[in-house]
Amino acid sequence: MPRILVLHGPNLNLLGSREPDIYGSTTLADIDRQLQALGSELGVAVACFQSNHEGALIDRVHAARDDGTDYLIINPAGYTHTSVALRDALAALDRPFVEVHLSNVHRREAFRRHSYFSDLAQAVISGCGASGYAFALRFASEKLAGIS
Ligand code: DQA
Repeated sequence: MPRILVLHGPNLNLLGSREPDIYGSTTLADIDRQLQALGSELGVAVACFQSNHEGALIDRVHAARDDGTDYLIINPAGYTHTSVALRDALAALDRPFVEVHLSNVHRREAFRRHSYFSDLAQAVISGCGASGYAFALRFASEKLAGIS
């Protein structure tokens, strides 16, 4: 069964209570549960990991080299706009990924318009709220099945 790793960056553990007008009221646990359920429906194994620490996210990407991860879905959160190191880890991993943002980063402050990940990503989903993760998972499973 194909394996998909979902990575959540800093502050996403606060989803549900964090600026709900921007990020919605769905919690991270809800999102992870929905992805697990959708993964079972689609026939893909979904593993989820959140950290507020850049090094921990990088270590998880390194671990993905040997744990059978075929595809990644990542919301780098604030690191989107700052982290050359996390970008380098994904480049070294050399597996396809979708970059997801709950909010439409292009409708917000100018500093959110630059991403260190978008040019490496197979696709970018921004502004669809929690549904963006489900869209990314469907896309990833189609790519892995060779039907997209
Ligand atoms: C975010 C957008 C980022 O600019 C922000 O720093 C986040 C969340 C999003 O999902 O909309 O933490 O990645």
